Amino acid sequence: MKRGTRLVHAARPDYSDGRRPVNPPVVRASTVDFASMAEMQAAIRPGTESAQSFTYGVRGTPTAFALEGLITELEAGHGTKLYSSGLEAIAAVFLGLLRPGDHVLVVDTVYSPVRQMLNRFLGQRGIAYDFYSPREPDLAAMIRPETRMIYTETPGSVTMELQDIAAVVRTARAHGDIWVACDNTWASGYCYRPLEDGADLSIVAGTKYLGGHSDVLMGSVTATAAAYETLHETSVLLGLAVSADDCALVLRGARTLHIRYPAHAQRARAVAAWLEQRPEVAAVHYPALPSSPDHALWQQRFDGAAGLFTLELTAAASTRVTAFVDGLKLFGRGASWGGFESLALPCDVRANRSVDGWDDRGALVRLSIGLEEADDLIADLDQALDRACNDKIRRSDG
Ligand SMILES: Cc1ncc(COP(=O)(O)O)c(C=O)c1O
Repeated sequence: MKRGTRLVHAARPDYSDGRRPVNPPVVRASTVDFASMAEMQAAIRPGTESAQSFTYGVRGTPTAFALEGLITELEAGHGTKLYSSGLEAIAAVFLGLLRPGDHVLVVDTVYSPVRQMLNRFLGQRGIAYDFYSPREPDLAAMIRPETRMIYTETPGSVTMELQDIAAVVRTARAHGDIWVACDNTWASGYCYRPLEDGADLSIVAGTKYLGGHSDVLMGSVTATAAAYETLHETSVLLGLAVSADDCALVLRGARTLHIRYPAHAQRARAVAAWLEQRPEVAAVHYPALPSSPDHALWQQRFDGAAGLFTLELTAAASTRVTAFVDGLKLFGRGASWGGFESLALPCDVRANRSVDGWDDRGALVRLSIGLEEADDLIADLDQALDRACNDKIRRSDG
């Protein structure tokens, strides 16, 4: 079965009388009432309780289990744990799989709050870390005896460098017991699955494309059997839980992922190709463009693209970046991405790169291309660039 068909048919409730709602019920529950003490004790006895047994709301509800099943199928893993945001999912990976004294290698282009998490929380609790370049990483040389994880993101946040996950995994395996974790939010399991390339954990912020409608927060980690057991235990020990209503919203979004995701990409490619021709634009960072240094790797490993990319303004236009973004009428100005609405966000990555600097480069604007028509988005960018950067037009405006 193809991916789209699986998304439509996954996570259907199984009712023995043959009549079943097509959506799993939203089970809002803290408490589960058992028929007898014997049944309750059997269900929650340590060692007998499975990761998906409905014993208490914090341990998960049937609605959460349905979403976990759908994401596991999408990401081709052993099992999935859910979290109340993408960032919480990332925190759970670090907290669950690393111990004080361990060392983690982190890609320099990591989602910037992860850098803060390492700098201001995990580092102070005994987790050592180094950042590595997404370009030609010499990972083998950076691995220490205490290295326990390589944490990657592909493509990297804002500057969009792709990672060759299979190569990262080969290096990790050659040096022993090292987990490979990958933030896969850009692909959202739709056009790339890190576990198929040997990674142990794939993280997706369901807040973005899976939810797809900018109205819910969700994180997931899909893992191999070994990593999944540890993640499950971490959720039990720390009380990490998600609401059934949020799961239902993400399930609703996921049903149409295969329709929305390529539609975002189709519009994004048209907008990105148009932007590349603009004199104010120095570069467009988007692996789906033939001009991208990562295009060949993208063609090899991905079978689609998200609608998220970043444009780099020329030096002259960079001085007008705020005017440009403020002048957009259809694009909103917002921090998230992957929703049906287009968003623009100026990003200064200089404080968030410790290996490959970004000092002599133009201003960056990340665009999340929504589901508006490409021609309208292009017209909006056209007028905003003209107004912000073209002196003649600004003067004639008075
Ligand atoms: C690449 C990436 N990973 C993870 C996250 C975190 O997701 P959330 O906003 O649900 O915490 C984000 C959010 O922007 C992101 O861009």
